[in-house]
Amino acid sequence: MEKIIDEKKQGESLILEQKDGNTRKLFIESYGCQMNFSDSEIVASILANEGYNTTQQLEDADLVLVNTCSIRDKAEQTVRKRLEKYNAVKKINPTMKVGVLGCMAERLKSKFLEEEKIVDLVVGPDAYKDLPNLLSEVDEGRDAINVILSKEETYGDISPVRLNSNGVSAFVSITRGCDNMCTFCVVPFTRGRERSRDPQSILEEVNDLWNKGYKEVTLLGQNVDSYLWYGGGLKKDFEKASDLQKATATNFANLLELCAKAQPKMRFRFSTSNPQDMTLDVIETMAQYNNICNYIHLPVQSGSNRILKEMNRQHTREEYFELIDNIKRLIPDCAISQDMIAGFPTETEEDHQDTLSLMEYVKYDFGFMFAYSERPGTLAERKMEDDIPEDTKKRRLNEIIQLQQKHSLYRTQQHVGKVEEVLIEKSSKKSDAHWSGRNSQNTVVVFPKDNYKVGDFVNVKITDCTSATLIGEAVGLSMNNS
Ligand code: SAH
Ligand code: F3S
Repeated sequence: MEKIIDEKKQGESLILEQKDGNTRKLFIESYGCQMNFSDSEIVASILANEGYNTTQQLEDADLVLVNTCSIRDKAEQTVRKRLEKYNAVKKINPTMKVGVLGCMAERLKSKFLEEEKIVDLVVGPDAYKDLPNLLSEVDEGRDAINVILSKEETYGDISPVRLNSNGVSAFVSITRGCDNMCTFCVVPFTRGRERSRDPQSILEEVNDLWNKGYKEVTLLGQNVDSYLWYGGGLKKDFEKASDLQKATATNFANLLELCAKAQPKMRFRFSTSNPQDMTLDVIETMAQYNNICNYIHLPVQSGSNRILKEMNRQHTREEYFELIDNIKRLIPDCAISQDMIAGFPTETEEDHQDTLSLMEYVKYDFGFMFAYSERPGTLAERKMEDDIPEDTKKRRLNEIIQLQQKHSLYRTQQHVGKVEEVLIEKSSKKSDAHWSGRNSQNTVVVFPKDNYKVGDFVNVKITDCTSATLIGEAVGLSMNNS
């Protein structure tokens, strides 16, 4: 029997699924991308069958797992700091075991066991099903490691345990790995080849979430537009598939439609889109279904054609503009966000100006902006010198951030005066008398609670805004409530 424990923490309702009879305590925390958070839910599910329930108290844990990120050097340093903290806790809880999961585990492999005394277990992103075996080795006092990457594993058969959930929105992963080989990026090395998950298992997870009361699903992948199911197998082997497999294959637009139709009252989002793989039929499907949110995270990294080429991004600035124009033509109120990298090797002031002018053209709703961080093993690291001085990187990054803030405010101001549907997720961080939720465009909306509750779709009149938040007043429940 599974029971649901509801507890209040920092104004948020934390729902922990626990399994009766489990006696061991697992403390699991995640760094980096949404995929890592989603993977930790898979790991918690695997370990629930091994006698582990999750705990929020590090000091109580029998097993501590940290799901790690390698995307930038700083992300790795954050994890190293956490290991120091575990070290301190181990002094008062000496039987506690520590495992490292995710991208750093894959990148550093057995080096982790040598470099960090505290670590007992190293498990790469495709090896989580081996955790029960690995843990029995650890129980017998040996260090354990599995960092084998897979061409098939999608964890499609595992029903994730929802961790730290608001009970309203959830992630569902649809692809794993990435074949794109952007020259700055470590992901293809740490997460392996791209493979798609059986749409049937995706729909089952979506339906199950709906039955548990969830109202919004974000479909996750490194490159969702590249999703392709033809009965299993790597994306790159599709050419070798039979005619029947090709004729009955499911692409990302098909998958979106399947989800939108299966649960017409549920909201669907997805992340991340790669401009080179996003097709018109995806945008048309978004336009056709009200319950697919009008928001696209569309990283571009740079506005300079020369830098885009050096990054091995497979599109030009002009092709990107064409995609943006098509999105705005088919979905005029679609929000678009970006990822940008400042100071990629050889980037000149002129290249940087191209990035700023691209931003002026798109006027993104928001963005995630980074200074270039050289990653060991990537093509950029092997072939190019990290030649932009740190202070130049910082200055360019600041200019990008400043411009984004201006555009974010411009975009939020466009919402003022409108009535928009908001899905309530939690209490506002700043005020317990206000709800916080998001509109279709993924912008946070804050408004007085009245008699509404978490999980309600509410029509909110937007009265004011900052560059990051819309402020409003509820005018009634939306038609979407069942
Ligand atoms: N397709 C992926 C991208 C993963 S990386 C996704 O699902 O989001 C997320 C972002 O980190 C990238 O878009 C890029 O802007 C940034 N990034 C990746 N490698 C980087 C590096 N070496 N230095 C700085 N930023 C990097
Ligand atoms: Fe990385 Fe490019 Fe894939 S940013 S995750 S290699 S699309």
